Amino acid sequence: MNTLTEAPDGIVLAGGAPAGAKLDRLNPVIGTEITGLDLTRLDAAGEEWLRALLAERMVLVVRDQRLDREAHKAIARLFGTGELHVHALSAARGAADPAVYPVRTNAQSKTTAGEGWHTDVSCDPAPIAASLLYMHEMPEGGGGDTYYSSMAECYARLSAPVQALARSLRATHDGAFPYRTIYGIEPAAGTHYNKTVHPLVIRHPVTGRPTLWINRGFTTRIEGLGHLENRALMEMFFQHIETTLTAQCRVRWETNTLVIWDNIATQHHAVWDYFPNSRYGERVSVIGPEIEGL
Ligand code: SIN
Repeated sequence: MNTLTEAPDGIVLAGGAPAGAKLDRLNPVIGTEITGLDLTRLDAAGEEWLRALLAERMVLVVRDQRLDREAHKAIARLFGTGELHVHALSAARGAADPAVYPVRTNAQSKTTAGEGWHTDVSCDPAPIAASLLYMHEMPEGGGGDTYYSSMAECYARLSAPVQALARSLRATHDGAFPYRTIYGIEPAAGTHYNKTVHPLVIRHPVTGRPTLWINRGFTTRIEGLGHLENRALMEMFFQHIETTLTAQCRVRWETNTLVIWDNIATQHHAVWDYFPNSRYGERVSVIGPEIEGL
């Protein structure tokens, strides 16, 4: 049923979908909505198809799922190394299961998770390959969408001289930067925030596509630059990513939607436009291989 083919530019193309599944692209570059599919009933060919589709489309919006935590974790294990990620703030955020990260915003919230362009914990030595957020409660009156952007597309849209410059650079990603400074939360005893120097352009471990690896959430410094150069160059990359609208899609959530995003290929930004209403989801993330430069 499922043939995986490779396009000339290295993008993996998913073959035929499982019977009954209906696919609608959110736009030509990134994001596919899937209806008529029960993710708990995939056979081996269906799992292979799902992995290929995620590599090709980077964001999968799967509607009408009925998942308990074990089923949610089982789907996450289909990606990356299969090893589930435990967030440094899992305990501090009151997670019932360390691998299931609560994403909760309500009238008492001072901040919300993911409000600002970022890649989930890009500060880790082996970053998260895929994050899977399952929506339990959406705000009354609407809102609470999430934007996603393709970092391969953002790289491709840089000029050749700036691509060459980016390929020569490495940058520090610091987990303490957003959580300590923005959220004011310390990890539980025995855990700590990771801090890692990564290449600024990486080769995507599945597709091989050159992919920008710098984000406003976690990247604190480009190595080897003066202070002014550092500020100006980081801001140039951040603004390029944030304003390249052709690389972006906007996901409109519904209760029981599971969104699976390729966390190495994308950045995302949750929109907090629903205060004082509540939104609640649970995120499971799976670790990928160590990333490498080109
Ligand atoms: C996150 O950054 O993982 C949260 C995304 C969201 O709430 O839509």
